[in-house]
Amino acid sequence: GTTLGASAAEKGRYFGTAVAAGKLSNSQYTTILDREFNMITPENEMKWDATEPTQGQFRYTSADQIVSHAQAHGQRMRGHALLWYQQEPGWAQSMSGSALRSAMMNHVSTVAAHYKGKIYAWDVVNEAFADGGGGGRRDSNLQRSTGVYNMVKDFKARGVPIDCVGFQSHLGGLPPSDYQANLQRFADLGVEVQITELDISGSNQATAYANVVKACLAVSRCAGITVWGIRDSDSWRTGENPLLFDSNGNKKAAYTSTLNALNGP
Ligand code: G3I
Repeated sequence: GTTLGASAAEKGRYFGTAVAAGKLSNSQYTTILDREFNMITPENEMKWDATEPTQGQFRYTSADQIVSHAQAHGQRMRGHALLWYQQEPGWAQSMSGSALRSAMMNHVSTVAAHYKGKIYAWDVVNEAFADGGGGGRRDSNLQRSTGVYNMVKDFKARGVPIDCVGFQSHLGGLPPSDYQANLQRFADLGVEVQITELDISGSNQATAYANVVKACLAVSRCAGITVWGIRDSDSWRTGENPLLFDSNGNKKAAYTSTLNALNGP
C-alpha cells in the first residue's frame, strides 16, 4: 500500500490516530487524516469531563463531530475513555463508595448506549493500574504490565468478560526488547491486543516505530495501531516531536519506516 491505512489493511490491521474535534476545520490536518488513517480515537472529546460535565446532563456535540467525520470518510472509531482517573468531572471527583459506583455505572451505560453500533472498540477502563515505585511513566512498565496480566488471567479464570487489552506505548526510544513477547503473552490469554496511543521521541525514532509495527504484525491477535496525533504540533508531548508528520504536515523518516514495516514480508 501507499498509505498507512491501506498498508495496514492489507495485513488485516487498522492504522489510526487520535483526533481533536477543534482541528477538523484545518484542511492540512483533515487531508492527512483522511488519506492515511482508517481508525479514529477522540483525543479528549469522549472523556467523562467532556460527555457528562454536570451529573446526569450529557453533552456529545464535540464527540459527535468526530463520529460524523469518521462516518463520512469510511473510518472506524475507537471510543476513549469511559472511565479514567484523570479528566473526571469535578462533581465526580468529590464522590466515593456506592455513590461513585452508581455514577460510574450510569455514565458508562448512557454513553455506550448513545454510541451503540458506532464504536469498534471502547477503552472501558483506562490505566487501571498505576505505575509502581517512584519512577516516571516509562520506568516501571513491565511491573505494571505483569499486574495487568495477572488481572486479565484472573478475569478469564472467573469468566469476567474482557475482550481486549490496549497498550498505550508513549515511548522515549526503542520499545523494550520484550515488547512483542509482552503483546503475545496477553494474546495467549485469549484477548485481542491493540496499540492504542503510540508516540515515540528520540533520535532512533524511525527504527523504534518500525519495531513497534513489526511486533504488532508478528502477533496474530494484534488488531491494529493508533498513533496519538497527526503532526508534531498536534502532540501532547510539546517539544518532543514524537509523531509521523512534522508541524508543517510533511512525512518524517518515521513515517517512511512505519510504512515500509507495514508493507514488509
Ligand atoms: O480545552 C481546554 C481549553 O478550553 C483551555 O483553554 C485549555 C487551558 O489549559 O485547556 C484545554 O483542555 C486541555 C485538553 O487537553 C484539550 O487541549 C487540558 O487542559 C489538557 O489537560 C488536555 O490534555 C490531554 C490529556 O490527555 C489530559 O490528561 C491531552 O490533550 C491528551 O492527549 C492526553 O491523552 C492521554 C490519554 O487520554 C490517555 N493516556 C495518556 C495520554 C497522555 O496524557
